[in-house]
Amino acid sequence: MEVLDILVVDDEPGIRSGVSRILKNFTVSYPFLDDDIGFNIIEAATGEEAIESISKSVPAVVLLDNKLPGIQGVDVLKYINENHPYILVMMITSYASLELAVKATNAGAYDFVPKPFTPQELKSSIENITKHYFLRHMTRKLHSEGKQVRFQFLTLLSHELKSPLNAVEGYLKMMQEKQAGDSIDSYMEFIDRLLSRINSMRNLIIDLLDLTHIESGKRQRTLREIDVTLVARSAIETMTPLAIQRDVSLSLDALSPVFMLADSNDMEILFNNLISNAVKYNVTGGWVRCSINKENEIVVVSVSDSGIGIDPDDLPKLFQEFTRIKNPLSKNVTGSGLGLSIVKRIIDLYGATIDVESQPGKGSTFRVTFPLPSGQVINGGI
Ligand SMILES: Nc1ncnc2c1ncn2[C@@H]1O[C@H](COP(=O)(O)OP(=O)(O)OP(=O)(O)O)[C@@H](O)[C@H]1O
Ligand SMILES: [Mg+2]
Repeated sequence: MEVLDILVVDDEPGIRSGVSRILKNFTVSYPFLDDDIGFNIIEAATGEEAIESISKSVPAVVLLDNKLPGIQGVDVLKYINENHPYILVMMITSYASLELAVKATNAGAYDFVPKPFTPQELKSSIENITKHYFLRHMTRKLHSEGKQVRFQFLTLLSHELKSPLNAVEGYLKMMQEKQAGDSIDSYMEFIDRLLSRINSMRNLIIDLLDLTHIESGKRQRTLREIDVTLVARSAIETMTPLAIQRDVSLSLDALSPVFMLADSNDMEILFNNLISNAVKYNVTGGWVRCSINKENEIVVVSVSDSGIGIDPDDLPKLFQEFTRIKNPLSKNVTGSGLGLSIVKRIIDLYGATIDVESQPGKGSTFRVTFPLPSGQVINGGI
């Protein structure tokens, strides 16, 4: 049996021993793991104790009370975010400070569990967070082993979809029980949070569909001479409402038509992802420019933006699944971290290359160079 360390940080001894008791013999199992998972509970009564314990031995999960005698839960959360970003944090909070919990989840906590909680509520939260832990763990492992991410990965992803669903259900139940009173105004923050979870779920599903299509190699690819400027134009149109919302201007710089042998769906996915990133990770009043050039039969597509940019240290992991770069300027931007990994798969199918130039605070340019048509290697999947 695999054992995960869980650090419980709460000044009430009753809560700490309660958690220990509930989770002592609790195990979870998943169809994709050979072994069951059990839990080892470590206790800390203050934030200071918690940080000391984490610096000695890093747990997988931290259950964190916000109201502590010395430094507060949010301070511990900040320490964890900065020093151990892989630890998953679940806030324990009383109903009275739910608003704070919502803020904490925005500040990087994975989820929160309101107290008092029943053993069943705690178990189901732990089951969720464990799934998430293994999803991330396994993706990292597959990458480090250089393995193709296939069916197993998709099984994990479907589990991943359950966690936002649970969150949505949780919020709806709180509203059903009128936990914040009778006035609808008291629930606005919940509603925002609900809509944002639903939105990220939708994006994840869209990404998943793209990914499974590309991965399976079963999708009928129709290679035809297409005018890529038309595909770019349609992607820009799709992104226009978001760009207007964010006060970002969009432009296309291309002498139409630019013909190339490609599948129009593939190109649509590629443009949608690059342009949506350029809009999402931009600044108010910024711009996005897409340009397409063909010289000596080589087509070069580039998407430049005046956005927040990417730190050079983060560039190598950009095209890995689930990469989301922490930046205070994009902390409210939702995404599943799959878009660029999908783009990379498409590019590999065409034998193309992608390079990124970026300066934090100035903007980024993603440039895709398609090779000569004779060099194309598109046969089914990866
Ligand atoms: N043009 C850009 N400017 C700044 N950062 C970017 C840009 N494009 C991507 N990033 C960073 O790279 C990360 C990965 O991008 P990717 O498109 O793979 O995922 P995402 O946008 O988070 O989610 P989605 O799956 O919805 O596309 C983003 O979260 C963002 O941090
Ligand atoms: Mg994206």
